[in-house]
Amino acid sequence: MSDLFQVRPARAPDVHGIAALVNGYAAQAVMLPRSAESIALALDDFVVAADCHGRVVACGALKQYSPSLAEVASVAVAPEAHGHGAGRAIVSAVERLARIRGVDEVFALTLTPAFFEAVGYGVDDRARYPEKLRRDCAACARRSACREVCVSRTLLAEPIDAAA
Ligand SMILES: CC(C)(COP(=O)(O)OP(=O)(O)OC[C@H]1O[C@@H](n2cnc3c(N)ncnc32)[C@H](O)[C@@H]1OP(=O)(O)O)[C@@H](O)C(=O)NCCC(=O)NCCS
Repeated sequence: MSDLFQVRPARAPDVHGIAALVNGYAAQAVMLPRSAESIALALDDFVVAADCHGRVVACGALKQYSPSLAEVASVAVAPEAHGHGAGRAIVSAVERLARIRGVDEVFALTLTPAFFEAVGYGVDDRARYPEKLRRDCAACARRSACREVCVSRTLLAEPIDAAA
């Protein structure tokens, strides 16, 4: 565990901190926006990193499409916390959640593929994920000019770290 933050499942008091983080980046067109209501409804799917004051400094979510496939979504780290491993720790915690739920393949659509490559993902073809295209991309206003890159990772044969 880092001295700077603790990664844990999200709780109800974190909802507004998560929304502020995600929507701050959404305002810069770096991420898709999430309402506080939609975050509250999916709270079991979120993990956060909290600083010593309990403030949310990073978040991420598992968005499941089938029993074996899920998206690593809403990964965001507060600007002042960049570069200290919070992003890596959040992705790892979302993957842990995926393994617990029996998911063996995760993907993400991102404007920062180099970050995901640094934490073990490979660039992939989004056409491999028609579930995502149907559920989100088809209705997205930016679909004809989407700059997001698809990345994925197979979780098979990776042990669940019981001590983590
Ligand atoms: C991208 C983001 C999540 C990285 O968070 P972070 O806490 O600074 O990342 P970490 O410190 O855990 O870095 C983990 C690795 O990724 C690399 N990395 C981090 N940000 C990177 C970037 N923008 N481009 C390339 N590599 C990056 C780091 O160098 C590190 O690699 P290393 O371990 O080989 O040295 C953060 O900058 C962010 O929230 N950006 C805005 C939202 C966003 O782009 N989210 C991505 C999903 S849509």
